[in-house]
Amino acid sequence: MQTAHAPRRSVGALLHSPRLYDLTVWLALFGRERRCRERMLDLARLQPGECVLDVGCGTGTLAIGAKARVGACGTVYGIDASAPMIARARSKAGRAALEVQFETAAAQALPLADASIDVALASLMLHHLGRAARGDMARELQRVVARGGRVLVIDFVHSTRRHRGPFAHFSHGHGHVEQGEVGALLTEAGFRVSEQGAVGFQDMHFTLAVRMDRGSIRAAPSASATHC
Ligand SMILES: C[S@@+](CC[C@H](N)C(=O)[O-])C[C@H]1O[C@@H](n2cnc3c(N)ncnc32)[C@H](O)[C@@H]1O
Repeated sequence: MQTAHAPRRSVGALLHSPRLYDLTVWLALFGRERRCRERMLDLARLQPGECVLDVGCGTGTLAIGAKARVGACGTVYGIDASAPMIARARSKAGRAALEVQFETAAAQALPLADASIDVALASLMLHHLGRAARGDMARELQRVVARGGRVLVIDFVHSTRRHRGPFAHFSHGHGHVEQGEVGALLTEAGFRVSEQGAVGFQDMHFTLAVRMDRGSIRAAPSASATHC
C-alpha cells in the first residue's frame, strides 16, 4: 500500500470497541450475519482473481469473506480509520488463515494507487461520514477504482417509519443516508449506477455502480487468474 495524504476534513465517527461491534451485529441480525454477508458479496459479483477494497471495513468480516471468494489470485485490502477495529480484523483473518491487507487509514485519503482496484465495497459506513467527507470518499473511490470496475455501497436508508430495525437503534446515532443520495454521490464522482435495491436485512439498501469514464483499465482478473 502507498502512504496516504492527510485527510483534509474530520475523519468521521470512528468505532473503538471491536468486540462490542461484532456482538452488536450478531444480535441485531439475530445470528444471521453470515447470510447477510454472503448476500452482500453476491451483490458485488466478486470473481476469482479480482482486487477488492473494503473501505470502512470495521472488524473485517466482509473483507475476509471477499478474500474467500476472490481466492489465492485475488487481493483484498481492508481500510478503517480506527486502529482497534483494524487490529481485530487482522486477528480474525489470521484465525481464518486468509490473507487480507488491513490498514488503518481514512476513506477520504486511501493509501492505494490510481486505478488499482476492481471492486470497492463500503458497507454500513457512509452514515459515519459528514456530507463533505462523503464527497471526498466518492472522489477517492473514483481515483482508485479502474475503468470498468465496480463500487458497492450498502447502508441504512433513512426511514420515516416510527419503528426502525434494531441495528438502527444499536449503532446509528451518527447520521443517516437518504434514499437516492448514494446514487447521486457516485454519479457526481464519475460512476454509472447499474443497480439499486433492498439488501433484505434490516433497512439496508444497496447501490452498485460502474466506473465508465476516463482512467486506466486494469488487466482482466481472469487473465491473471490463469497463472495461479
Ligand atoms: C458501522 S461500521 C461498519 C463496518 C463494516 N463495514 C461492516 O460492514 O461491518 C463503520 C466503520 O467505519 C469506520 N469509519 C468511520 N469513518 C471512517 C473514515 N473516514 N474512514 C475509514 N473508516 C471510517 C468506523 O471506524 C467503523 O469501523
